[in-house]
Amino acid sequence: IIIMIKNRSIRFVNFELAKLPVVFLWSKKWVFLCEKAYQIIDTAIESSVMTKVKGFGVHNGQVMDVADYVTPTQGASVFCIITKTITTENQVQGLCPESEKRWICNNDSDCNPQRNKPGDYGILTGRCVSFNNTNNTCEIKGWCPAEIDTVKITPMMEVENFTIFIKNSIRFPKFNYTKGNFLPSINQTYIKKCNFDKVNNTYCPIFRVRDVVHYANQDFRKLGGVIGIKISWMCDLDKSDEHCKPSYSFNRLDTMSQKNEVSPGYNFRFAKYYKMENGTDYRTLIKAYAIRFDVIVNGNAGKFNMIPTLINMVAAFTSVGVGTVLCDIILLNFLKGAEQYKAKKFEEVKCQVSIKQEKNQQSQQLFLIHIQPSNPLKLCGFVSVITVFHLTNEMNQIHEE
Ligand SMILES: *[C@@H]1O[C@H](CO)[C@@H](O)[C@H](O)[C@H]1NC(C)=O
Repeated sequence: IIIMIKNRSIRFVNFELAKLPVVFLWSKKWVFLCEKAYQIIDTAIESSVMTKVKGFGVHNGQVMDVADYVTPTQGASVFCIITKTITTENQVQGLCPESEKRWICNNDSDCNPQRNKPGDYGILTGRCVSFNNTNNTCEIKGWCPAEIDTVKITPMMEVENFTIFIKNSIRFPKFNYTKGNFLPSINQTYIKKCNFDKVNNTYCPIFRVRDVVHYANQDFRKLGGVIGIKISWMCDLDKSDEHCKPSYSFNRLDTMSQKNEVSPGYNFRFAKYYKMENGTDYRTLIKAYAIRFDVIVNGNAGKFNMIPTLINMVAAFTSVGVGTVLCDIILLNFLKGAEQYKAKKFEEVKCQVSIKQEKNQQSQQLFLIHIQPSNPLKLCGFVSVITVFHLTNEMNQIHEE
Protein backbone atom coordinates (compact mmCIF):
# COMPACT_ATOMS: atom_id res chain seq x y z
CA ILE A 1 0.00 0.00 0.00
CA ILE A 2 1.23 3.49 -0.84
CA ILE A 3 0.26 6.50 1.15
CA MET A 4 -0.51 9.75 -0.59
CA ILE A 5 0.00 12.84 1.43
CA LYS A 6 -1.68 15.88 0.06
CA ASN A 7 0.95 18.26 1.30
CA ARG A 8 3.59 18.23 -1.43
CA SER A 9 6.75 18.69 0.61
CA ILE A 10 5.87 15.97 3.07
CA ARG A 11 4.94 13.68 0.24
CA PHE A 12 8.33 14.12 -1.35
CA VAL A 13 10.32 13.24 1.78
CA ASN A 14 8.29 10.17 2.58
CA PHE A 15 8.30 8.77 -0.90
CA GLU A 16 11.97 9.07 -1.58
CA LEU A 17 12.89 7.39 1.68
CA ALA A 18 10.55 4.52 0.95
CA LYS A 19 12.14 3.98 -2.46
CA LEU A 20 15.76 3.62 -1.34
CA PRO A 21 15.88 -0.16 -0.86
CA VAL A 22 14.51 -0.72 -4.35
CA VAL A 23 16.99 1.66 -5.89
CA PHE A 24 19.77 -0.04 -4.04
CA LEU A 25 18.92 -3.50 -5.27
CA TRP A 26 18.55 -2.41 -8.85
CA SER A 27 21.65 -0.25 -9.07
CA LYS A 28 23.79 -2.75 -7.23
CA LYS A 29 23.64 -5.24 -10.03
CA TRP A 30 24.30 -2.72 -12.75
CA VAL A 31 27.10 -0.82 -11.07
CA PHE A 32 28.94 -3.73 -9.61
CA LEU A 33 28.75 -6.36 -12.28
CA CYS A 34 28.42 -4.69 -15.65
CA GLU A 35 30.49 -1.56 -15.28
CA LYS A 36 33.03 -2.92 -12.79
CA ALA A 37 32.58 0.35 -10.96
CA TYR A 38 33.87 -1.19 -7.78
CA GLN A 39 37.39 -1.20 -9.20
CA ILE A 40 40.11 1.37 -9.56
CA ILE A 41 41.73 1.20 -12.98
CA ASP A 42 45.39 1.53 -13.87
CA THR A 43 45.86 2.57 -17.50
CA ALA A 44 49.51 3.60 -17.16
CA ILE A 45 50.92 0.30 -18.34
CA GLU A 46 54.72 0.06 -18.36
CA SER A 47 56.20 -2.26 -20.89
CA SER A 48 59.39 -3.51 -22.44
CA VAL A 49 59.61 -5.26 -25.79
CA MET A 50 62.45 -7.33 -27.20
CA THR A 51 62.32 -8.80 -30.67
CA LYS A 52 64.41 -11.32 -32.56
CA VAL A 53 64.02 -12.28 -36.21
CA LYS A 54 65.18 -15.62 -37.57
CA GLY A 55 65.56 -17.01 -41.07
CA PHE A 56 67.78 -17.06 -44.16
CA GLY A 57 67.05 -15.58 -47.56
CA VAL A 58 68.77 -15.31 -50.93
CA HIS A 59 69.15 -11.89 -52.51
CA ASN A 60 71.29 -11.02 -55.53
CA GLY A 61 72.90 -14.43 -55.32
CA GLN A 62 73.96 -13.91 -51.70
CA VAL A 63 72.63 -15.66 -48.63
CA MET A 64 71.33 -13.04 -46.20
CA ASP A 65 71.20 -13.57 -42.48
CA VAL A 66 69.62 -11.50 -39.71
CA ALA A 67 72.57 -9.07 -39.53
CA ASP A 68 72.05 -8.28 -43.22
CA TYR A 69 68.31 -7.75 -43.34
CA VAL A 70 67.19 -6.47 -39.92
CA THR A 71 67.73 -2.84 -39.02
CA PRO A 72 68.18 -1.43 -36.43
CA THR A 73 69.90 -4.46 -35.01
CA GLN A 74 69.15 -3.92 -31.31
CA GLY A 75 65.91 -5.93 -31.31
CA ALA A 76 63.70 -3.04 -30.23
CA SER A 77 59.94 -2.75 -30.58
CA VAL A 78 60.32 -1.03 -33.96
CA PHE A 79 62.41 -2.82 -36.59
CA CYS A 80 62.61 -3.29 -40.33
CA ILE A 81 63.03 -6.42 -42.37
CA ILE A 82 64.67 -5.49 -45.66
CA THR A 83 63.11 -7.28 -48.60
CA LYS A 84 65.04 -5.69 -51.46
CA THR A 85 68.19 -3.57 -51.84
CA ILE A 86 69.75 -1.50 -54.57
CA THR A 87 73.47 -1.10 -53.92
CA THR A 88 75.82 1.46 -55.43
CA GLU A 89 79.40 0.46 -54.78
CA ASN A 90 82.66 2.37 -54.53
CA GLN A 91 81.28 5.87 -54.18
CA VAL A 92 83.87 8.58 -53.51
CA GLN A 93 83.61 12.34 -53.06
CA GLY A 94 83.93 14.08 -56.43
CA LEU A 95 82.21 15.41 -59.54
CA CYS A 96 79.93 13.29 -61.74
CA PRO A 97 76.72 13.54 -63.84
CA GLU A 98 73.24 13.23 -62.28
CA SER A 99 71.52 9.94 -62.98
CA GLU A 100 67.89 11.08 -62.91
CA LYS A 101 66.10 11.77 -66.20
CA ARG A 102 64.94 15.24 -65.23
CA TRP A 103 68.54 16.56 -65.31
CA ILE A 104 69.12 15.78 -69.01
CA CYS A 105 70.68 18.84 -70.70
CA ASN A 106 72.17 20.08 -73.98
CA ASN A 107 74.64 22.67 -72.77
CA ASP A 108 75.77 24.51 -69.66
CA SER A 109 73.06 27.17 -69.96
CA ASP A 110 70.45 24.48 -69.12
CA CYS A 111 72.20 23.77 -65.84
CA ASN A 112 73.67 27.13 -64.91
CA PRO A 113 70.51 28.61 -63.33
CA GLN A 114 70.51 25.68 -60.81
CA ARG A 115 74.08 26.37 -59.63
CA ASN A 116 74.67 25.59 -55.92
CA LYS A 117 71.15 24.21 -55.52
CA PRO A 118 70.53 20.64 -54.41
CA GLY A 119 70.09 18.03 -57.13
CA ASP A 120 68.92 14.48 -56.43
CA TYR A 121 72.32 13.10 -55.43
CA GLY A 122 74.53 16.16 -54.85
CA ILE A 123 74.99 19.90 -55.25
CA LEU A 124 74.71 21.12 -58.85
CA THR A 125 77.81 22.73 -60.33
CA GLY A 126 76.04 24.39 -63.28
CA ARG A 127 77.89 22.39 -65.96
CA CYS A 128 76.38 19.97 -68.49
CA VAL A 129 78.48 16.80 -68.84
CA SER A 130 78.25 13.45 -70.63
CA PHE A 131 76.21 10.82 -68.72
CA ASN A 132 76.32 7.98 -71.29
CA ASN A 133 76.63 7.55 -75.04
CA THR A 134 73.28 9.20 -75.78
CA ASN A 135 72.59 11.66 -72.97
CA ASN A 136 74.18 14.57 -71.16
CA THR A 137 73.07 15.50 -67.64
CA CYS A 138 73.85 18.29 -65.21
CA GLU A 139 76.95 17.74 -63.12
CA ILE A 140 76.87 17.37 -59.34
CA LYS A 141 79.42 17.56 -56.56
CA GLY A 142 78.96 14.79 -54.02
CA TRP A 143 79.23 11.01 -53.66
CA CYS A 144 80.03 9.65 -57.11
CA PRO A 145 78.97 7.80 -59.18
CA ALA A 146 75.32 8.75 -58.55
CA GLU A 147 72.91 5.96 -57.67
CA ILE A 148 70.73 4.48 -60.40
CA ASP A 149 67.64 3.14 -58.63
CA THR A 150 65.53 2.19 -61.64
CA VAL A 151 67.09 -1.28 -61.95
CA LYS A 152 64.67 -4.20 -61.53
CA ILE A 153 65.57 -6.39 -58.60
CA THR A 154 63.43 -9.25 -57.34
CA PRO A 155 62.63 -9.05 -53.65
CA MET A 156 63.75 -11.71 -51.21
CA MET A 157 60.67 -13.95 -51.08
CA GLU A 158 61.97 -16.08 -48.22
CA VAL A 159 61.03 -13.25 -45.86
CA GLU A 160 57.53 -14.72 -45.66
CA ASN A 161 58.97 -17.72 -43.83
CA PHE A 162 61.03 -15.66 -41.36
CA THR A 163 59.88 -15.71 -37.75
CA ILE A 164 59.65 -12.86 -35.27
CA PHE A 165 60.07 -13.73 -31.64
CA ILE A 166 58.60 -11.17 -29.22
CA LYS A 167 59.40 -10.98 -25.53
CA ASN A 168 57.13 -8.57 -23.69
CA SER A 169 57.12 -7.73 -19.99
CA ILE A 170 54.54 -5.42 -18.50
CA ARG A 171 53.88 -3.78 -15.16
CA PHE A 172 50.86 -1.99 -13.71
CA PRO A 173 52.50 0.48 -11.32
CA LYS A 174 49.37 1.23 -9.26
CA PHE A 175 49.14 -2.40 -8.17
CA ASN A 176 52.84 -3.26 -8.61
CA TYR A 177 51.73 -6.17 -10.77
CA THR A 178 54.16 -7.63 -13.32
CA LYS A 179 53.66 -10.20 -16.01
CA GLY A 180 55.22 -11.39 -19.27
CA ASN A 181 53.90 -12.87 -22.50
CA PHE A 182 55.68 -16.13 -21.65
CA LEU A 183 52.73 -17.65 -19.83
CA PRO A 184 53.45 -20.41 -17.30
CA SER A 185 51.67 -22.83 -19.61
CA ILE A 186 54.41 -22.40 -22.25
CA ASN A 187 57.31 -24.82 -21.87
CA GLN A 188 60.65 -25.27 -23.63
CA THR A 189 59.58 -27.96 -26.07
CA TYR A 190 56.45 -26.07 -27.08
CA ILE A 191 58.29 -22.82 -27.74
CA LYS A 192 60.88 -24.54 -29.94
CA LYS A 193 58.29 -25.52 -32.51
CA CYS A 194 55.24 -23.31 -32.08
CA ASN A 195 54.06 -20.56 -34.41
CA PHE A 196 51.36 -18.11 -33.48
CA ASP A 197 47.94 -18.60 -34.99
CA LYS A 198 44.57 -17.25 -33.96
CA VAL A 199 42.95 -20.61 -33.29
CA ASN A 200 45.28 -23.09 -31.60
CA ASN A 201 48.39 -21.14 -30.62
CA THR A 202 47.02 -17.84 -29.37
CA TYR A 203 49.78 -17.37 -26.79
CA CYS A 204 52.82 -18.56 -28.77
CA PRO A 205 55.22 -15.58 -28.89
CA ILE A 206 56.74 -16.59 -32.25
CA PHE A 207 55.13 -15.06 -35.33
CA ARG A 208 55.69 -16.00 -38.95
CA VAL A 209 55.97 -12.90 -41.16
CA ARG A 210 53.51 -14.39 -43.63
CA ASP A 211 50.89 -14.86 -40.90
CA VAL A 212 51.37 -11.36 -39.52
CA VAL A 213 50.96 -9.88 -43.00
CA HIS A 214 47.95 -12.09 -43.63
CA TYR A 215 46.26 -11.17 -40.32
CA ALA A 216 46.81 -7.49 -41.21
CA ASN A 217 44.89 -8.17 -44.45
CA GLN A 218 47.85 -7.32 -46.67
CA ASP A 219 49.33 -8.95 -49.75
CA PHE A 220 52.89 -9.95 -49.03
CA ARG A 221 54.07 -9.63 -52.64
CA LYS A 222 52.97 -6.01 -52.91
CA LEU A 223 53.95 -5.05 -49.42
CA GLY A 224 56.35 -2.39 -48.27
CA GLY A 225 54.97 -0.53 -45.34
CA VAL A 226 54.40 -0.45 -41.61
CA ILE A 227 52.63 -3.28 -39.85
CA GLY A 228 51.50 -2.96 -36.24
CA ILE A 229 51.63 -5.91 -33.89
CA LYS A 230 49.42 -4.90 -31.00
CA ILE A 231 49.61 -6.63 -27.63
CA SER A 232 46.65 -5.86 -25.35
CA TRP A 233 46.59 -6.63 -21.66
CA MET A 234 43.11 -6.26 -20.15
CA CYS A 235 43.44 -7.57 -16.66
CA ASP A 236 40.89 -8.01 -13.90
CA LEU A 237 43.17 -8.46 -10.91
CA ASP A 238 40.28 -9.56 -8.68
CA LYS A 239 40.39 -12.79 -10.64
CA SER A 240 43.27 -15.21 -10.41
CA ASP A 241 46.63 -14.50 -12.03
CA GLU A 242 46.16 -16.85 -14.98
CA HIS A 243 43.27 -14.73 -16.31
CA CYS A 244 45.66 -11.84 -17.06
CA LYS A 245 46.76 -12.74 -20.59
CA PRO A 246 47.97 -10.88 -23.66
CA SER A 247 45.90 -10.78 -26.81
CA TYR A 248 47.55 -10.12 -30.16
CA SER A 249 46.15 -8.20 -33.10
CA PHE A 250 47.66 -7.02 -36.35
CA ASN A 251 46.98 -4.17 -38.71
CA ARG A 252 48.67 -1.94 -41.24
CA LEU A 253 49.63 1.38 -39.68
CA ASP A 254 50.57 3.42 -42.76
CA THR A 255 47.10 3.29 -44.28
CA MET A 256 47.81 6.71 -45.80
CA SER A 257 50.51 5.45 -48.14
CA GLN A 258 48.49 2.34 -48.93
CA LYS A 259 45.87 4.51 -50.65
CA ASN A 260 48.31 7.08 -51.98
CA GLU A 261 49.91 6.33 -55.35
CA VAL A 262 52.50 9.10 -55.09
CA SER A 263 54.74 7.53 -52.50
CA PRO A 264 53.89 3.86 -52.10
CA GLY A 265 55.83 1.51 -49.88
CA TYR A 266 58.65 2.18 -47.52
CA ASN A 267 62.32 2.67 -48.29
CA PHE A 268 65.41 4.29 -46.85
CA ARG A 269 69.12 4.57 -47.58
CA PHE A 270 72.19 3.77 -45.55
CA ALA A 271 75.89 3.31 -46.33
CA LYS A 272 78.88 1.26 -45.29
CA TYR A 273 82.15 3.21 -45.19
CA TYR A 274 85.68 2.05 -46.01
CA LYS A 275 89.10 3.66 -46.28
CA MET A 276 91.51 3.35 -49.16
CA GLU A 277 95.24 2.89 -48.52
CA ASN A 278 95.90 6.54 -49.29
CA GLY A 279 93.36 7.57 -46.60
CA THR A 280 90.38 8.68 -48.73
CA ASP A 281 86.93 7.39 -47.82
CA TYR A 282 84.75 5.34 -50.11
CA ARG A 283 81.40 3.79 -49.42
CA THR A 284 78.71 1.36 -50.53
CA LEU A 285 75.31 3.05 -50.66
CA ILE A 286 72.30 0.84 -50.04
CA LYS A 287 68.73 1.79 -50.87
CA ALA A 288 66.57 -0.62 -48.91
CA TYR A 289 62.92 -1.51 -49.41
CA ALA A 290 61.54 -2.87 -46.19
CA ILE A 291 58.57 -3.93 -44.12
CA ARG A 292 58.60 -2.12 -40.81
CA PHE A 293 57.08 -3.72 -37.74
CA ASP A 294 55.89 -1.72 -34.73
CA VAL A 295 55.12 -3.68 -31.60
CA ILE A 296 52.58 -1.64 -29.65
CA VAL A 297 51.61 -2.57 -26.12
CA ASN A 298 48.51 -1.27 -24.38
CA GLY A 299 46.26 -2.36 -21.56
CA ASN A 300 44.69 -1.64 -18.26
CA ALA A 301 44.10 -3.40 -15.00
CA GLY A 302 41.31 -3.07 -12.46
CA LYS A 303 41.13 -4.06 -8.82
CA PHE A 304 38.48 -3.72 -6.12
CA ASN A 305 38.66 -0.53 -4.10
CA MET A 306 36.32 1.00 -1.53
CA ILE A 307 36.39 4.59 -2.80
CA PRO A 308 35.05 4.07 -6.35
CA THR A 309 32.57 1.59 -4.91
CA LEU A 310 31.09 4.22 -2.62
CA ILE A 311 31.19 7.02 -5.19
CA ASN A 312 29.44 4.91 -7.79
CA MET A 313 26.84 3.67 -5.34
CA VAL A 314 25.95 7.23 -4.43
CA ALA A 315 25.87 8.22 -8.09
CA ALA A 316 23.54 5.33 -8.87
CA PHE A 317 21.21 6.22 -6.01
CA THR A 318 20.98 9.80 -7.10
CA SER A 319 20.45 9.23 -10.80
CA VAL A 320 17.90 6.47 -10.36
CA GLY A 321 16.05 8.41 -7.66
CA VAL A 322 15.75 11.46 -9.87
CA GLY A 323 14.55 9.29 -12.74
CA THR A 324 11.63 7.80 -10.84
CA VAL A 325 10.57 11.12 -9.39
CA LEU A 326 10.46 12.58 -12.90
CA CYS A 327 8.41 9.63 -14.13
CA ASP A 328 5.98 10.06 -11.27
CA ILE A 329 5.59 13.77 -11.88
CA ILE A 330 4.82 13.19 -15.54
CA LEU A 331 2.49 10.26 -14.95
CA LEU A 332 0.60 11.94 -12.14
CA ASN A 333 0.22 15.36 -13.64
CA PHE A 334 0.58 15.57 -17.39
CA LEU A 335 -0.55 12.38 -19.06
CA LYS A 336 -4.01 11.39 -20.17
CA GLY A 337 -5.59 9.18 -17.54
CA ALA A 338 -3.49 10.67 -14.80
CA GLU A 339 -6.50 10.55 -12.50
CA GLN A 340 -6.81 6.81 -12.93
CA TYR A 341 -3.15 6.31 -12.32
CA LYS A 342 -3.38 8.46 -9.24
CA ALA A 343 -6.34 6.49 -7.99
CA LYS A 344 -4.43 3.22 -8.47
CA LYS A 345 -1.27 4.48 -6.94
CA PHE A 346 -2.66 6.39 -4.04
CA GLU A 347 -5.49 5.80 -1.68
CA GLU A 348 -6.84 8.63 0.35
CA VAL A 349 -6.88 8.24 4.09
CA LYS A 350 -8.97 10.56 6.13
CA CYS A 351 -7.58 11.75 9.40
CA GLN A 352 -9.07 13.48 12.32
CA VAL A 353 -6.83 16.15 13.64
CA SER A 354 -7.40 17.55 17.07
CA ILE A 355 -5.35 20.40 18.44
CA LYS A 356 -5.00 21.20 22.09
CA GLN A 357 -3.52 24.46 23.21
CA GLU A 358 -1.54 24.51 26.45
CA LYS A 359 0.88 26.67 28.36
CA ASN A 360 4.02 25.15 29.84
CA GLN A 361 6.06 26.39 32.82
CA GLN A 362 7.93 29.02 30.81
CA SER A 363 4.49 30.23 29.73
CA GLN A 364 5.16 29.42 26.09
CA GLN A 365 2.39 28.42 23.78
CA LEU A 366 2.30 24.69 23.08
CA PHE A 367 0.12 22.87 20.61
CA LEU A 368 -0.54 19.22 21.05
CA ILE A 369 -1.65 17.74 17.80
CA HIS A 370 -3.20 14.38 17.56
CA ILE A 371 -3.80 12.71 14.23
CA GLN A 372 -6.15 9.83 14.09
CA PRO A 373 -6.67 8.13 10.74
CA SER A 374 -10.10 6.69 10.10
CA ASN A 375 -8.37 3.35 9.48
CA PRO A 376 -5.28 3.29 11.77
CA LEU A 377 -3.61 0.38 9.93
CA LYS A 378 -3.11 2.49 6.88
CA LEU A 379 -0.71 5.02 8.33
CA CYS A 380 2.86 4.29 9.23
CA GLY A 381 4.45 6.03 12.16
CA PHE A 382 7.02 7.85 10.13
CA VAL A 383 4.47 9.73 8.11
CA SER A 384 2.66 10.84 11.24
CA VAL A 385 5.76 12.30 12.82
CA ILE A 386 6.64 14.42 9.84
CA THR A 387 3.08 15.52 9.38
CA VAL A 388 2.87 16.59 13.00
CA PHE A 389 6.04 18.58 12.70
CA HIS A 390 4.78 20.35 9.66
CA LEU A 391 1.40 21.12 11.08
CA THR A 392 3.06 22.56 14.16
CA ASN A 393 4.92 25.07 12.07
CA GLU A 394 1.79 26.08 10.27
CA MET A 395 -0.10 26.43 13.48
CA ASN A 396 2.56 28.74 14.84
CA GLN A 397 2.20 30.97 11.84
CA ILE A 398 -1.56 31.05 12.19
CA HIS A 399 -1.26 31.87 15.83
CA GLU A 400 1.12 34.76 15.23
CA GLU A 401 -1.18 36.23 12.65
C1 LIG B 1 58.21 -21.14 -47.15
O1 LIG B 1 58.12 -22.41 -46.51
C2 LIG B 1 57.27 -23.33 -47.20
C3 LIG B 1 57.26 -24.61 -46.40
O2 LIG B 1 57.30 -24.37 -45.06
C4 LIG B 1 57.77 -23.56 -48.60
O3 LIG B 1 56.90 -24.41 -49.29
C5 LIG B 1 57.88 -22.24 -49.33
O4 LIG B 1 58.45 -22.44 -50.60
C6 LIG B 1 58.73 -21.25 -48.54
N1 LIG B 1 58.72 -19.98 -49.21
C7 LIG B 1 59.80 -19.46 -49.80
C8 LIG B 1 59.62 -18.20 -50.52
O5 LIG B 1 60.86 -20.00 -49.76
